[in-house]
Formats: sequence, C-alpha cells, structure tokens
Amino acid sequence: MTDRELCQAALDMLPRSYCPYSHYPVGAALECADGSVFTGCNVENAAYSPGICAERTAAVKAVSEGHRDFVRIAIACAQTVHAAPCGLCRQFLYEFAPHMEVLLVNKDFDIRRYTLDQLLPVGFGPDNVS
Ligand code: THU
Repeated sequence: MTDRELCQAALDMLPRSYCPYSHYPVGAALECADGSVFTGCNVENAAYSPGICAERTAAVKAVSEGHRDFVRIAIACAQTVHAAPCGLCRQFLYEFAPHMEVLLVNKDFDIRRYTLDQLLPVGFGPDNVS
C-alpha cells in the first residue's frame, strides 16, 4: 500500500468517529509487516476519560488479532492543522515499533512524515523492564 493509500484509509475513518464532546474526528490506518491494515477512529465517552484515540483503537485491533509488527500509521483529521498523536498514543505505539513511520494527513491531503522515535525520543520500552 502506498503512503497515499494508507492516508486515504485513515481519512475514510473520519465519519466513523464518535466525538460528540470534542467534535474533533480523527481516523487512523495502521499497516503491519505482512501488509495487513487495521483502521481506527476516536471513540469518546460521556465520562470523558474513558475515551480512546484513533491510533490506540487501531493498535488494539491489530494486537488483538495477532499483529504486533507495526510498520506505518497514518493519522487523519478534518482540519487544516495536522493532528499529531498525543503522548499516550506515542508511548502505546513505541511498545511495539519504536522506529515505525508516522504519517499525518490533513483535510487537504497534505502529508507530513515522521518516525515514531522522532516524536518520542529516548522513549521507555520493553527493554527497560526486562
Ligand atoms: N485524538 C485522537 O484520536 N488522536 C490524536 O492524535 C489527537 C486527539 C482525539 C481524542 C479526542 O477524542 C479528540 O481527538 C480531541 O482531543
């Protein structure tokens, strides 16, 4: 899958977002080493804190289906300003793939490219507790 196709898959998730409190839809598409793609959206909650971001929705779907070898994630929002993953999501992804690519795509299909270790330098991972 090309970067553009992965970004389109993330954008396609925006209508699935459940965000009645923030009104800020986010979509994610996570690609694994065998080419499989797991999508996600943010899912909010009336009690606020149980809400989950699009990235973690996608990651939990992947891991629970037996895929931990993350390669790339595309994160889409419906704004001009790109949605950078929150600190919790950076940490969550770092557990599985510190060097994975992170693509941010905005409503105009402008793509920004990073690696996860650029976004979370000197991260804390499984090696720290082995
Ligand atoms: N959100 C995500 O899903 N991913 C991000 O990268 C940034 C923030 C969600 C959380 C919340 O539902 C809404 O966006 C506003 O913060």
